[in-house]
Amino acid sequence: MLNIASLPGDGIGPEVCDAAVRVLDALPIDVVVEEHPFGGRAIHEHGDPLPAETLAACRTADAVLLGAAGLPEFDGAPVRPEQGLIRLRGELDVYANLRPARGDGIDLLIVRELVGGLYFGASGRRADGSAYDTCEYTPAEIERIARRGFELARTRRSFVTSVDKANVLETSRLWREVVSGLTGDYPDVRLEHMLVDNAGMQLVLDPAQFDVILTENTFGDILSDVAAGSCGGLGVAASASLGERAPGIFEPVHGSAPDIAGQGTANPTGALRSVALLLRYAAGEHDLADQLEQAVDTALSTTPTRDVGGTATTVEFTDTVLSVGFR
Ligand code: NAD
Ligand code: IPM
Ligand code: MN
Repeated sequence: MLNIASLPGDGIGPEVCDAAVRVLDALPIDVVVEEHPFGGRAIHEHGDPLPAETLAACRTADAVLLGAAGLPEFDGAPVRPEQGLIRLRGELDVYANLRPARGDGIDLLIVRELVGGLYFGASGRRADGSAYDTCEYTPAEIERIARRGFELARTRRSFVTSVDKANVLETSRLWREVVSGLTGDYPDVRLEHMLVDNAGMQLVLDPAQFDVILTENTFGDILSDVAAGSCGGLGVAASASLGERAPGIFEPVHGSAPDIAGQGTANPTGALRSVALLLRYAAGEHDLADQLEQAVDTALSTTPTRDVGGTATTVEFTDTVLSVGFR
């Protein structure tokens, strides 16, 4: 029995989570999905984007399925939906954010550090009107994500590109030192270092050169949208956020897409590929994950949504995925 806490959240989050739950219900395994308030909707109902009840339910689940957090009405507000997402990642200590990008000769995996750096450093406003965010990393925080990156590379083409800004940032120089110091433990994995500005350009011009991209929190956020852009856009990009133990968080890379929310046209591919990652990493159901990924590829070519050049609705796309059937 697989217990899944579903946090649909805001904007198109509920639309793509509905698609994910339809697919989960169609699988030949026992799955229980329970929905919980999260994001802007939870601020409205409970005054908190991550209510205590939601966090408690996530802790006891086998996996967390997440839609999106963020509503324009909360831009600049003291309590914001995105704070709930960042807090949930920290509370569950899901430090390894896997963001695969596939398509047209491209098959890369971004391994993004998810619970450190600028997102978790001291920040605020000063009396003089200035604002600050601070980026810190400990060697231990870098080592655990780097080991994840090397180990994942071993299951792929054994090539790690560690991305940093070591020509400017002290945290990046520490990052590079720690990553380089681990090569003795992974002699079979080729390691290269690349500065983040160049990495952004390389992802646009020649994404096929990459296998695993290992990087810190902020760089990974930006580069994963760039990589998605080279593979069909944000609608198709999935992610898995993993710690040392369950539960992991499985969510599309995209946000709440307020510009198309409520129209029923959101591409559920990112969410469905996140379900495939859930099947792989939370349930060990690799065969079902393969079947789901193939069914999604089929739907992308036969029943594409608007963002990828078609006219299908979210429901029609999902119908095609379901029509393939799972064994
Ligand atoms: P976004 O990812 O929501 O949208 C960017 C563009 O991509 C939009 O034009 C949108 O229509 C399109 N798009 C995204 N997903 C799509 C899909 N599944 N199908 C079709 N088109 C899709 O990014 P944004 O506009 O920068 O952010 C909107 C809000 O979402 C903000 O509040 C932001 O903080 C939040 N956000 C949340 C998450 C998350 O919850 N993990 C991730 C990113 C952004
Ligand atoms: C993502 C999002 C989040 C991030 C925001 C919404 C906090 O952009 O998951 O990529 O920056 O990590
Ligand atoms: Mn992002």
